Amino acid sequence: IGDFMLWLEETGSTQNILKEFSFPYGTVVVANRQWEGRGRFGRKWHSEEGGLYFSFLLRAEDFKELLPLPLVVGYGVLLQIERKGFKPMLKWVNDVYVSGKKVCGVLVERSKEKVVVGVGINLNQKEFPSDLMATSLYMLRNEVFEKKDFLLETLEILDRVLEEFKNFGFEKFRPAIRQRLMFLGEEVVVYSQEPVVGIFEDIDQEGSLLLRTAQGLLKFNAGKVSLRGS
Ligand code: ATP
Ligand code: BTN
Repeated sequence: IGDFMLWLEETGSTQNILKEFSFPYGTVVVANRQWEGRGRFGRKWHSEEGGLYFSFLLRAEDFKELLPLPLVVGYGVLLQIERKGFKPMLKWVNDVYVSGKKVCGVLVERSKEKVVVGVGINLNQKEFPSDLMATSLYMLRNEVFEKKDFLLETLEILDRVLEEFKNFGFEKFRPAIRQRLMFLGEEVVVYSQEPVVGIFEDIDQEGSLLLRTAQGLLKFNAGKVSLRGS
């Protein structure tokens, strides 16, 4: 990914550029600000100056399984943040946290053969609205990160991780991801149609969450569910 790159000062959402226009697979679109940055379920992604907001285009048929993609991409970003000396954790299924606050979110959207993967990383923001449990790498360490370098390093890792995912599937990542999962072994609430409380027991070979409840072991795939600590 990243052989062809488009860097915009501002746009609605980098996701839309890749969805609405025709670009080669692997194209990366970056924006310094987004006025309609979004997360899952149409939630708003706060996209002020200072953050790193990018999307890239993959081809669905290159992958045997797409459900674990948010986890795998999140893991790639986590490795980059780890390389900078932080101790990030993955919050199933699409977020990276440091010190209990969100620093990155991953959004996967598909239309037919096009898979558009969006990544928002809080890099140099100096503050967030108080209702967001968010922080930036700058706020954590008082250091400014060069956006272009950070992006290129992240893309290099994502390239490698996605190649391995293509060739070997999710199983290859499961042990490493499990080691960095927030709430693993703890009581959590899974919000699907209705909230379900249980112990976050494990993730399976498809990246689905296994929840130990009074009714037995329940499985949630990465579809329309959110996870909270309890
Ligand atoms: P969460 O558990 O954090 O709500 P989720 O995965 O259930 O995450 P998403 O739709 O993936 O929900 O994430 C969008 C949410 O992330 C928004 O509702 C908001 O609370 C939060 N958010 C928005 N912008 C940012 C940002 N720049 N950094 C961190 N968090 C943000
Ligand atoms: C989430 O946590 O729900 C995912 C947030 C994804 C945000 C990124 S920023 C770049 C791309 N463009 C968007 O509008 N969203 C993604």
